[in-house]
Amino acid sequence: MQVNTLILGAGAAGLFCAAHAGPEVLVVDHAAAAGEKIRISGGGRCNFTNLHSGPGNFLSRNPHFAKSALARFGPRDFLALVDRHGIAWHEKTLGQLFCDGSARQIVAMLTGMAAAGGARLWLRTEVGTITRGAGGFTVALRREGQAVTVTARNLVVAAGGKSIPKMGATGLAYDIAARLGVAVTETRPGLVPLTFAGEPFAPLAGVALPVTARAGSGRFDEALLFTHRGLSGPAILQISSCWREGQPLEIDLLPGADLAAHLRAARQAEGRRALSTVIARLLPARLADHLAPELGLAAVLGTQSDAQLARLEAALHRWTLRPTGTEGYRTAEVTLGGIDTDALDARTMQAKAVPGLYFIGESVDVTGWLGGYNFQWAWASGHACATAIAGSP
Ligand code: FDA
Repeated sequence: MQVNTLILGAGAAGLFCAAHAGPEVLVVDHAAAAGEKIRISGGGRCNFTNLHSGPGNFLSRNPHFAKSALARFGPRDFLALVDRHGIAWHEKTLGQLFCDGSARQIVAMLTGMAAAGGARLWLRTEVGTITRGAGGFTVALRREGQAVTVTARNLVVAAGGKSIPKMGATGLAYDIAARLGVAVTETRPGLVPLTFAGEPFAPLAGVALPVTARAGSGRFDEALLFTHRGLSGPAILQISSCWREGQPLEIDLLPGADLAAHLRAARQAEGRRALSTVIARLLPARLADHLAPELGLAAVLGTQSDAQLARLEAALHRWTLRPTGTEGYRTAEVTLGGIDTDALDARTMQAKAVPGLYFIGESVDVTGWLGGYNFQWAWASGHACATAIAGSP
């Protein structure tokens, strides 16, 4: 069988690309349903874009790579499609747009658009050997148990990363890149909870508070959540993408508070109270109890010198922890790293050394922050690739 464009992966990027890539498009996926990650995303409501998406919200070895695609297909372009399909939405916070109803509406919109564009979709289809010849790419497929060979002029790899194998992730894109001589940068789990030896925070599981989290060159002001295994919540998921094994993690437990001034005033007004009483008014009580031995909070406020109060302030503004690892690909929302952007044309997503071969979406070394940025990259990179294919003679 011959097609113009074969797309491997019917996720966000693959479906969006299929909708715009012109005639004779075949999309294949080993899963039983298309867009499974979209379906479960955003707690079932899909945070489908972020109004503030810009290159600064993405991590990549080349921070300029995403600029071209994002500039040509931005959040407002996707929003216009959502509106045209009558999908009700709301802005939750920080420019994050969610469906009012269900993420399934986005999946239906994408599969509908792809079908309307004439694309065919084969599910339960395994990808086998891929060879490159004069006529393009010959791909051995196994569709619901039957062997089928497809030849395609363009091969678009939209198979995502390694995150959440249970949801169908296999790392196929990296295997194909290796087979066809396209460089791949180191991959690791991103947007993932951090773990600690001995599970020291288990007694605090469920406690949440707003913090500033810092690691490497990253800094995020969002909520932290203690869990049985370690730390989670938006601030931690965000910073996990900047954290490297062995590095410290710094948490400001009272962002923006002039704690020393507050403690000095309290010392004057209620000097006989224990420090723990005052700190428990500022932090969740269970956390204040947990920190009491480490920070000497049993001491009486009136006995504390200015220098001691300043040290306590520093300890709470820069609570320094040493995570031992992450929960890994089992729960990571994304995969950091991937297809080396140096190997791709930023306008088209085509592999510079392999004409006709494209990589889009999460497989590429472009990873967004939490908050709708990763889907925006899937749409923008899928669109860049599709318009290049549709416009080529
Ligand atoms: P995606 O993973 O969507 O698609 C890849 C497709 O390839 C899958 O259908 C898979 O079955 C298929 N495939 C893989 N290996 C294959 C093989 N060997 N053979 C055949 N097919 C194969 N982002 C965001 O912006 N807002 C949000 O709300 C969320 N929420 C969210 C929640 C959870 C729980 C997760 C895990 C992730 C998110 N994300 C998110 C991230 C977002 O889901 C992700 O960035 C995009 O789905 C990436 O789109 P892709 O199309 O590149 O990969």
